[in-house]
Amino acid sequence: MLMRLSDRVALVTGAAGGIGRAVALCFAAEGAVVICSDINDSGCSETLDLLERAGGKGCALQADVMHEEEIELLYRQIADRLGKIDCVVNIAGGDCEPAADVEDIDYARMSANLDLNLKSCILSCKEAARVMKRQGFGRIVNMSSLVYRGSPNQFSYAAAKGGIYAFTRSLAMSLGRYGITVNALAPALVEVPAFVKALGAERWEMLRKDCAGRYPLGRVATPDDVARCALFLASDDAAFITGQIIEISGGARL
Ligand SMILES: NC(=O)c1ccc[n+]([C@@H]2O[C@H](COP(=O)([O-])OP(=O)(O)OC[C@H]3O[C@@H](n4cnc5c(N)ncnc54)[C@H](O)[C@@H]3O)[C@@H](O)[C@H]2O)c1
Repeated sequence: MLMRLSDRVALVTGAAGGIGRAVALCFAAEGAVVICSDINDSGCSETLDLLERAGGKGCALQADVMHEEEIELLYRQIADRLGKIDCVVNIAGGDCEPAADVEDIDYARMSANLDLNLKSCILSCKEAARVMKRQGFGRIVNMSSLVYRGSPNQFSYAAAKGGIYAFTRSLAMSLGRYGITVNALAPALVEVPAFVKALGAERWEMLRKDCAGRYPLGRVATPDDVARCALFLASDDAAFITGQIIEISGGARL
């Protein structure tokens, strides 16, 4: 069977999470050696275990992407163990500043949003670019969100995810001549265990129903919807696509 990522080495950050796990499993099923990375070591090992039990190959490396030195160490470890890196999917992230009026923006939570979502992505791409330029090949996929278009009560999260889009386009312009593509994903609401747990079953169900009612395709996204799009962007099928943001939104906000 033709596999779309045979012999590729792929780093997935946030690999213990709902979307990151789906991406790691999907890439491994397509033949990639997947480096699963997350701040959550046990969750990351669980992802690796699932991946290996399904016949895939990979390893787990813990890293806190809010610390530059940990990102640098992660890339050094990959270079030592595997000698190359073909694809990077920067997924680690999340909203650190829950819905608030603009007057309520809290400096520490706003900074955490920028550090966790935007700066981590920039720093990971910086390390990836070093390796990929030497190789003359690379695929980078960054996790934005549909809120990159703006959201009336997620100010700093929207700013971070919008920043990822601007950074993605800038990097695509700069790295294209080295055979490196850089794209971003912008999902609407995705059903992940962390979300359901944080909201509680009842509030989650209200949110899910409300969104499903508004999205033209009549449901919220699954982690696999996002993983398949990441796979496409990392594969040769997307060889001539760069600097794009793909909305995985069921038609939300058209
Ligand atoms: N779920 C959604 O509706 C949705 C929609 C759009 C975008 N996103 C984005 O998708 C990404 C994945 O989110 P998810 O929905 O799978 O949630 P999740 O909470 O299941 O996954 C996030 C993962 O990031 C990891 N992480 C958090 N801080 C980290 C750090 N400092 N260093 C390394 N890893 C860290 C967590 O441990 C977790 O495994 C995030 O960037 C999120 O902003 C999610």
